Amino acid sequence: MGITTYALSDFVRDLRAIAAGTTSYGAIIERVRPLAIRLAQSREWLQKRHYECDPAQGFGVHLLHEEPDHRLAVFAVAWLPGHGAPPHNHGTWAVVAGVDGPEKNVYWKRMDDGSRRGYAEIRRVGEEVIAPGGVVSFLPDAIHSVANETDRVTASLHVYGRHLNYTGRSQFDPERKTETPFSVTVQPT
Ligand SMILES: [Fe+2]
Repeated sequence: MGITTYALSDFVRDLRAIAAGTTSYGAIIERVRPLAIRLAQSREWLQKRHYECDPAQGFGVHLLHEEPDHRLAVFAVAWLPGHGAPPHNHGTWAVVAGVDGPEKNVYWKRMDDGSRRGYAEIRRVGEEVIAPGGVVSFLPDAIHSVANETDRVTASLHVYGRHLNYTGRSQFDPERKTETPFSVTVQPT
């Protein structure tokens, strides 16, 4: 089977089988990673409209699939030049594969014990650039930020255990040491 024959519907079928086969997030991530790369590279699903961004949030979120109960959400995400996402977690497992252009991921570590509501201390611990063919993945509490440091719109494929607006996940401000709810605006289809 050639790489171009791997369609979104094939990916969703495989995703369902993987999620039904184990409850281990680590195991799910390991199995989803190569398939996400394969789908990202096939580009069978990619349309011009997936490059549209919401100027207010600096990126565009395009829903490609979710189950009726919001599980197994697949998004195309486009990033405006010089923009990105603040430090955030996902509240579910996450796999992100590069589609078009490099995107910088900065990794953060939470330093406090999370016992003070709305308070969070995070420290920058590393970074990794993902480009087409590359993939990054996260357990539910892992924290990262994203930056498009190029001069054009970049795109990536995002796969989550649950639609991000239904996980109760957070964004973090390292300067102000705050943790607040983080939902995204999804582009109309
Ligand atoms: Fe993220």
